[in-house]
Amino acid sequence: MDINTLKTQIELEILQVNSPEELEVFRAKYLGRKGALAELTSIIPQLPIEQRAGLGQQVNMLKSQLQALITDRQKVFSGGATKVTSSTICDLGMPGIAQELGRLHPITQVIEEINTVFVNMGFVVADGPEVETEFNNFTGLNIPLNHPSRDAFDTFYLKDYPKMLLRSHTSPVQVRAMKSRKPPLAVIVPGRVYRPDAVDASHLFMFHQIEGFMVDTNVTFSGLKGILETFAKKVFGEEIKMRFRPHFFPFTEPSAEVEISCIICKGKGCSVCGRKGWLEILGAGMIHPNVFKQVGYDSKKYSGFAFGMGIERIAMLKYGINDIRLFFENDLRFLKQF
Ligand code: PHE
Repeated sequence: MDINTLKTQIELEILQVNSPEELEVFRAKYLGRKGALAELTSIIPQLPIEQRAGLGQQVNMLKSQLQALITDRQKVFSGGATKVTSSTICDLGMPGIAQELGRLHPITQVIEEINTVFVNMGFVVADGPEVETEFNNFTGLNIPLNHPSRDAFDTFYLKDYPKMLLRSHTSPVQVRAMKSRKPPLAVIVPGRVYRPDAVDASHLFMFHQIEGFMVDTNVTFSGLKGILETFAKKVFGEEIKMRFRPHFFPFTEPSAEVEISCIICKGKGCSVCGRKGWLEILGAGMIHPNVFKQVGYDSKKYSGFAFGMGIERIAMLKYGINDIRLFFENDLRFLKQF
C-alpha cells in the first residue's frame, strides 16, 4: 500500500476507536511487530538503493504521527482531554475594567471617630428624625415661640405642616431620648441639621452636628469638663489646651462656649484662629431645669450636662480645609484624599 493512502486510512480509522481496547487493537494493527508499518519497513531493503532513504524517512514520520494520535486518543479515554480544569481555561477577552473601591465620606469618618471616643467612655449612640416638631426643636428645649433666642436657630418650616420643621440642631433628640428613657443616660447623637444660611466658605444650608448629654443623680460641670477634654485630646492631640467661656443657650444653665488652643499655630495666633490663638469648637452647659420639667424629670433629683458641636467645623480644623462647600460638591479629587 502506498504510504499516503495508509496515512489517510489511519486518520479515518482512529476516529472510529471508541475504547481503550479498540485502541490497543488499532495500535497493534499499525505499530505492532507484524503491523502495517513494520511491513512497510521490511520492504525497504528490496527497493532500489536511491529510494530507500526517502521511504525510511516517510515511515519514521508516519510512525511518530501515529504515536501522537494514539496518545491523544488515550487522553480522551482517561478524561484528560475533555475535562476542563482551571489551568486549561484560557481567557482570550480584553482585561476587565477594575472597579475602584469606595470609601467613607470624610464627614462620616469624623463622625465615626468621635462616636468611638464617646462610646469608649460609656455613651450610647442614638438618632432622631431630620423633620422635627416645633416642640422638640424649641419649646421642649426652653425656647418659647416668641423668645428672641429663636432667631439664633433660624429655621426651615414645612410649608404644608406649620408645626413641623427641618431641625436646626440635634438638641431635639435630647427631648426625645429623655422622654423615652430613664436616667442614668449617656447619649451621643450624630446627624444632619438645617439652617437657611447664605452659602459661603463657612456656611451651608445643611451641616452635621454631634449632640451629647448625660443625666444622672450627680452629674457635674467638672464631669462635663473632663469628658470634653478627653474628647478634644483624642481627636486633636494630647498637647491641646481647652478653655470654657461663659455663653448663653436657653436649654443649658450655666452655658459655655468651649475653645481649644489653635491646632495650626499652637496658640500663638494665626489667620485660622483670627490671631486669638483659640478656636471655638462647641457649645455646652448644664441641662436647664425647665428642660427636665418638659420631659418629666425631677430636676431636684437629677442633673445633667449637654454639648453640641458642628462636625464640618471639626473636620475642617482637623484636615486644614478652608471651604465647607468642598464636602458636598462630590468632587472625587477632594474626597479621595481621605
Ligand atoms: N444646640 C446648640 C447649637 O446648635 C449647641 C448646644 C448643644 C449647646 C447642647 C449647648 C448644649 O448651637
